[in-house]
Amino acid sequence: MEMKQKIKQDTSVAVIFLIYLLSCIALTAGMQCSGIAPSYRFDCHPEADVTQLKCQQRGCCWLSSKNLDEGVPYCFYPHDFPTYEMGSPEQTAFGYSVVLKRTTKSYYPNDVMQLQMDIYFETSYRLHFKIYDPRSERYEVPIPTPKVSKRAPSTDYKVQFSKSPMGLVITRAVDNTVIFNSTLSPLIFADQFLQMSTSLVTPYIYGLGEHRGRFKVASDWKTYPMWSRDHPPQVGDNLYGVHPFYLNLEGASSKAHGVLLLNSNAMEVVLQPAPALTYRTIGGILDFYIFMGPGSDEVVQQYTEVIGRPLMPPYWGLGFHLCRWGYGSSNRTLEIVKRMKAALIPQDTQWNDIEYADGRKDFTVNNSTFAGLPDMIKYLHASGMHFIPILDPGISSTQPPGTYPPYDTGIAQDVFVKDSTGKPLVGEVWPGPTVFPDFFNNKTKSWWLDQIKSFHGKVPFDGLWIDMNEPSNFVDGSINGCTKSSYDNPPYTPSILGGSLDAMTVCASAIQSIGKHYDLHSLYGYSEAIGTNEALVKVRNKRAFVISRSTFPGSGKHTGHWLGDNYSLWPDMAYSIAGILSFNLFGIPLVGADICGFNLNTTEELCQRWMQLGAFYPFSRNHNTIGAKDQDPTAFSVDMQISSRNALQIRYSLLPYIYTLFHFAHSKGSTVARPLFFEFPGDPKLYDVDRQFMLGSSLVVTPVLEEGSTNVTGIFPKGIWFGVNHGTHFQVNSTQAVTLPAPLNEINAHVREGCIVPLQLPYKEGYTTTTEYRQLGFTLLITRSINGPGSGHLFWDDGDSLDTYENGNYLLLEFSSSETSMNSTVSYDGYSGSHAVTVQSFIIATVPHPVSQVTINGTSVAFDYEPQLMNVYVNNLKVPMQFNFYVKWEWQTQD
Ligand SMILES: *[C@@H]1O[C@H](CO)[C@@H](O)[C@H](O)[C@H]1NC(C)=O
Ligand SMILES: *[C@@H]1O[C@H](CO)[C@@H](O)[C@H](O)[C@H]1NC(C)=O
Ligand SMILES: *[C@@H]1O[C@H](CO)[C@@H](O)[C@H](O)[C@H]1NC(C)=O
Ligand SMILES: *[C@@H]1O[C@H](CO)[C@@H](O)[C@H](O)[C@H]1NC(C)=O
Ligand SMILES: *[C@@H]1O[C@H](CO)[C@@H](O)[C@H](O)[C@H]1NC(C)=O
Ligand SMILES: *[C@@H]1O[C@H](CO)[C@@H](O)[C@H](O)[C@H]1NC(C)=O
Ligand SMILES: *[C@@H]1O[C@H](CO)[C@@H](O)[C@H](O)[C@H]1NC(C)=O
Ligand SMILES: *[C@@H]1O[C@H](CO)[C@@H](O)[C@H](O)[C@H]1NC(C)=O
Ligand SMILES: *[C@@H]1O[C@H](CO)[C@@H](O)[C@H](O)[C@H]1NC(C)=O
Repeated sequence: MEMKQKIKQDTSVAVIFLIYLLSCIALTAGMQCSGIAPSYRFDCHPEADVTQLKCQQRGCCWLSSKNLDEGVPYCFYPHDFPTYEMGSPEQTAFGYSVVLKRTTKSYYPNDVMQLQMDIYFETSYRLHFKIYDPRSERYEVPIPTPKVSKRAPSTDYKVQFSKSPMGLVITRAVDNTVIFNSTLSPLIFADQFLQMSTSLVTPYIYGLGEHRGRFKVASDWKTYPMWSRDHPPQVGDNLYGVHPFYLNLEGASSKAHGVLLLNSNAMEVVLQPAPALTYRTIGGILDFYIFMGPGSDEVVQQYTEVIGRPLMPPYWGLGFHLCRWGYGSSNRTLEIVKRMKAALIPQDTQWNDIEYADGRKDFTVNNSTFAGLPDMIKYLHASGMHFIPILDPGISSTQPPGTYPPYDTGIAQDVFVKDSTGKPLVGEVWPGPTVFPDFFNNKTKSWWLDQIKSFHGKVPFDGLWIDMNEPSNFVDGSINGCTKSSYDNPPYTPSILGGSLDAMTVCASAIQSIGKHYDLHSLYGYSEAIGTNEALVKVRNKRAFVISRSTFPGSGKHTGHWLGDNYSLWPDMAYSIAGILSFNLFGIPLVGADICGFNLNTTEELCQRWMQLGAFYPFSRNHNTIGAKDQDPTAFSVDMQISSRNALQIRYSLLPYIYTLFHFAHSKGSTVARPLFFEFPGDPKLYDVDRQFMLGSSLVVTPVLEEGSTNVTGIFPKGIWFGVNHGTHFQVNSTQAVTLPAPLNEINAHVREGCIVPLQLPYKEGYTTTTEYRQLGFTLLITRSINGPGSGHLFWDDGDSLDTYENGNYLLLEFSSSETSMNSTVSYDGYSGSHAVTVQSFIIATVPHPVSQVTINGTSVAFDYEPQLMNVYVNNLKVPMQFNFYVKWEWQTQD
């Protein structure tokens, strides 16, 4: 006690002296502080306990005022704050190399006093630069990226080296737009604190996940923490996945670019209205990629070229999925499947949550309640349906020796994450105490394959749902806590949920085969998805269908994603659109939210609206928690069932189109769901739109997101919009809000003018699976093209074989149209089933005059013209699609 007081007295004398000293410094630095506009203040003291004294001890400016907007830092860097000095850039084979040196230390421990910045002119549209310690190897994210050693001969970007203020300035060559300017705040690169800022071109910025919120990221002093975390989505929290990637619009030029910071350590990104952005990460290196677009979808294509293209899902995986926790038994699960079928509601896949397992242990089945599981799966398979169970990473560690092979063999093969003492780290998940497989270890992959193979022998599942892989842990760190080391207690902790790295996960000091959990934490779900996808392929020899909760850049190559444990609330439904759009930016187009909401009881109206919206999610699954009321459509009124059936029938009809979008995602990295501004760039009225979305370039979905509404207002760009419900259309001459009728039993979905959309229309009422729909002939919906040629595509294959694109076992058709004609051209045919692919009907929409003749390859065919709707229908055809054909329609001109 006495000692402490003495120290206190001494420090207070020192503090008074320091304040005196600092006020002198502050006076001299006054000009450096007062000339900085609030929106250009870069926070010098992000820790919560900032005071004037602490601020000035860091050599920073302190200007507090009540008049400032919320979030404006009082403590900020002066212009001349010490940082690295830049040496002379040297030309290299791939671009440039520059040395950065500092002579004074920053206020975080263990500055790296000398850095190297390598700049790679990788392609004309992609710039890569990394800042690292040339003397000592640091952790780098272990995802495969292209290795380039030669400089691209010409580039869309220019790089300037600024010595004072020190930093890198990257501009778009064609118009000098400043894409990246790191001179705005001082670079800090200490062992466990790395900070860099850049300007943004506009405040229109998207990405930076995984977060709950609007699609356009808020740029008014908002902090986006990143560290994979199990928690029901709430605005502001770090969530299940980590995606340090953003897309920034460049304003009037209609261009866009993307930026990836390839870093997996706990981090936060702060946005401020300059507009500018600051990265703070606590490990690794600064490894940046810039993607020049200039189209938004091109940015995503360029991004996925680096991190990996999305997987091609099996066709059945795009059907409707039904799941809940709380069926109670396999018999009850099967009862619901049969109830759905009796109500003729499309469903392809039935799922089970952890209740199927014995004591919630992986790779076991509860032999009383779920004894009927194999029979249920037999029934599903015989009905052309599929089955997916949940699988958590945590392996029960307290079963009697010899009774639970997954643990026994895992210990024998040394596959688990270790604590700092080298013993398997024990946490607690659903089955009680558990250990965690280290999926970066090759031994773990083969052990995981063995478990999956042996379980598949008993329960022949068709896909896997990997949950809890942040990894989630019900005790912080481990049952023995964590260490006092700087990994578990870093000098700076980003503003993550729980305030500590071990919050609801394993200790950062835990050891994995290729490094520390401190570095690898946010890659846990990524690594599990790889092992799970590979195991599924080996066991089934068909396409893998995996849905993972935790994801990282590159996950889309191995898995899809659902948006986690949402609530049965109207705002949760609305936020799902932003989530789906964001994950399409992240290269994970196979994404959906739990339809009707996971937590809480839904209402019939909410569930009805959500079934309608969810029918257009790329991944469409209704899922519910234990203890909540049933929320599959058959649990509600007949009206609700009919509208769910109608919405899903629209989905199933559109699947050839949606599947083709997934082909382009897989083959060139395009998005499946996308915001309107992707297709109508440079229109500020669309920058904020996240209550509507597009599937591909042809379809706009405008769901009702509010209780009690029977109309909905959407924003529609110039054009003719064809409604899929009734075949009616409307026209807008410039982007404007349009209020549409939205009765409770319908969702608005519109096809843009100038599109050719391949459909399979269910002429047989009894069809409820993609297995059945795939037997149907195609319908081509052709919407009037008045502004230049219309276009469309069809990608078709057997829907489930591995690598059909890579092996050339597919059919790809290209459609083009004018106002009075349409061509179908085979761009590639290597599919053995091509001869059976035929057009059964055409819908030629919004033809302004009565039609006198329709010909296919010059031969007249029968048709109907519906004058009210102005649509032409041609039915009962069997036009082979493996050969080119052309269609013409002639109308009488009125005299
Ligand atoms: C980069 O930012 C600095 C401020 O740090 C500013 O002075 C400079 O003009 C910017 N560079 C360009 C090319 O806009
Ligand atoms: C499940 O259904 C089967 C067949 O109808 C029946 O034999 C069995 O007893 C049921 N199991 C349970 C747990 O109800
Ligand atoms: C069912 O599982 C329990 C607990 O795992 C086990 O003790 C019992 O022998 C099993 N019964 C059958 C019929 O397999
Ligand atoms: C793990 O296996 C992969 C693929 O077989 C191989 O490329 C890699 O080198 C292996 N890693 C280690 C650490 O052995
Ligand atoms: C949901 O409804 C069920 C059945 O009526 C009830 O037991 C449960 O408490 C409800 N849950 C909530 C969160 O209100
Ligand atoms: C849309 O519905 C709201 C009530 O939900 C009503 O107040 C409004 O008048 C309706 N607008 C149109 C154009 O029908
Ligand atoms: C759009 O333009 C067309 C043709 O000029 C005109 O007939 C129509 O009334 C306009 N529509 C609206 C909503 O202004
Ligand atoms: C259809 O193909 C013919 C022959 O190649 C071509 O002349 C015509 O312009 C094409 N029409 C459309 C709409 O692409
Ligand atoms: C249409 O014409 C092409 C040749 O231009 C031919 O290959 C194709 O078989 C024809 N299709 C039909 C349905 O007549």
